[in-house]
Amino acid sequence: MVKVAIVYHSGFGHTERLAQFVAKGVSDAGAVSSLHNTDDLQRPDAGPWEILASADAIVFGSATYMGAASASFKGFADASSKVYKEHGWKDKLAAGFTNSGTPSGDKAATLNQFIVLACQHGMNWVSPAFKPGYSLTSHDYDTAINRTGHYTGVGTQSFTDHGPEDSPNSAELETGRLLGVRVAEATQRWNGA
Ligand SMILES: Cc1cc2nc3c(=O)[nH]c(=O)nc-3n(C[C@H](O)[C@H](O)[C@H](O)COP(=O)(O)O)c2cc1C
Repeated sequence: MVKVAIVYHSGFGHTERLAQFVAKGVSDAGAVSSLHNTDDLQRPDAGPWEILASADAIVFGSATYMGAASASFKGFADASSKVYKEHGWKDKLAAGFTNSGTPSGDKAATLNQFIVLACQHGMNWVSPAFKPGYSLTSHDYDTAINRTGHYTGVGTQSFTDHGPEDSPNSAELETGRLLGVRVAEATQRWNGA
């Protein structure tokens, strides 16, 4: 079975819950998932780097803070420069997700940050390939897949007065799960598995 590692940071748990649904999608598609907090990957000589080295795909995730990935995620990205120098992640597949407090929140900047990181490593970016449709109505805003309209990765919204148990909402968690399915299936195809 192909292996998909999910590397994420979440200060208050909302993005972590989304990460868990991405992992569920990976498992649902018959691949092996693992979840890794970037707090444990701040130095190149400490943390589960070997698991990332053996993964066939790595999914990047972070809460959007100040229109960017969090400081912890950036610490991980900087620590990955050792792998970069060895071209260690070349040809792995990559994808990304983020969550923030407002419908836009400059989440696209965070997703673009993930794409640049993946491309610096020579990885292949996998888009979520959500079904086309810009036709949100007032009736389906709470139930739509990809209601925030991101196509480079998954971007969800959570309320600051709600805990991770009910925000992001179930449709957005399903959006994250579908990203996991998509990455697992793309990795299986890429690896001839
Ligand atoms: C330091 C900080 C910066 C933030 N910046 C943004 C932002 O740029 N855009 C936005 O929509 N929300 C922003 N928020 C709100 C968070 O994205 C939101 O609370 C989110 O649910 C946090 O995810 P987490 O629980 O995984 O940490 C910010 C929150 C903090 C604490």
